[in-house]
Amino acid sequence: MPQDDSSWFDWYEQLRGRVESRLRTCLTDPQIPDPLRQAARYSLLAEGKRLRPVLVLMAADVCGASVDSALPAACAVEMIHTYSLIHDDLPAMDDDSLRRGRPTSHVVYGEALAILAGDTLLTGAFEMLSSGDLPHPAVADCVRILARAAGGAGMVGGQVLDLQAERGPFPGVTDSGAAAASSVPASAASSGPSLSPADLLPADSFDEALRAAVERLIRIHSMKTGALITAALEMGAVVAQADSHQRRCLRHYGECCGLAFQIADDLLDVSGSGPRLGKQPGRDRELGKLTCPDLLGMETGRRWAGELVKQACDCLTGFGERAVALRHLARFIVERDH
Ligand code: IPE
Ligand code: IPE
Ligand code: MG
Ligand code: MG
Ligand code: MG
Repeated sequence: MPQDDSSWFDWYEQLRGRVESRLRTCLTDPQIPDPLRQAARYSLLAEGKRLRPVLVLMAADVCGASVDSALPAACAVEMIHTYSLIHDDLPAMDDDSLRRGRPTSHVVYGEALAILAGDTLLTGAFEMLSSGDLPHPAVADCVRILARAAGGAGMVGGQVLDLQAERGPFPGVTDSGAAAASSVPASAASSGPSLSPADLLPADSFDEALRAAVERLIRIHSMKTGALITAALEMGAVVAQADSHQRRCLRHYGECCGLAFQIADDLLDVSGSGPRLGKQPGRDRELGKLTCPDLLGMETGRRWAGELVKQACDCLTGFGERAVALRHLARFIVERDH
């Protein structure tokens, strides 16, 4: 656990290192046919931020568990995340050719193997999750949390809604006309960790069409991205056998960070640099995605994300100084440039 503000990033890097080492041992079974093993490991071991597994480890740590005990759950969520990236990039979905600084899986291995590499990572995640020596009830709890977050009521469902929303039309405000929308984050700040659009939107600021579009955006972003991030936090709490109050606080922290993370991803698609992002920016516009900058403008999007981070940090009050790294990580989620 970091002792002060300045060492939090070293702690993040240390945890990231632990995750990397464990991931390198994954999917090495010689029974897995060569090209499939190569394809799955190509994506899994490419350079990612490892944010979700680090969240598992930090959540477990603030609740008093060892990093070792939480490593299987941490690697499991990263395996599912990597599978979601491979499938997200397929021609039938976002049709992207660059990911984590490398050509995408289907570009290198072809579509069939890319789909199957994703399948292997998805199923391998549950094998990984059950590989540690956690008590069986904790494993069962984690399996349920992760399966639900990854499935139709979570990430996969969010991806469907994302595709359905392509090419709008959507109402939107431009940055120059964003004065009314700028009250979104201010109102979000006063409402605690609730993510309900009714709490986020002041009654007189938006017309109905914009209000409905923001509501739809929150739903899509919370499902396609927030669900796995929230599951990461909750699994960390389960591994540590945290009490229900701690578990709820970490889940709410995850919900706020998850939405903020996807808002930041939308903003980076507009303002980020390709080499730094490791993926091609500008694709959301080309694909006609429903995004935060298109609906609310860049400036309001940044402020909204910032307010969500404050809400996230408010959820950590009960953990005191132990949660210093989680507070920094929440800020990193919206201030990152990759
Ligand atoms: C990208 O996730 C996909 C989204 C859910 C927005 P990350 O930005 O965490 O990607 P990696 O894991 O660092 O490559
Ligand atoms: C992806 O959202 C969410 C996933 C479940 C992978 P995006 O489509 O915006 O992610 P990027 O920008 O391609 O990484
Ligand atoms: Mg997508
Ligand atoms: Mg994409
Ligand atoms: Mg994106």
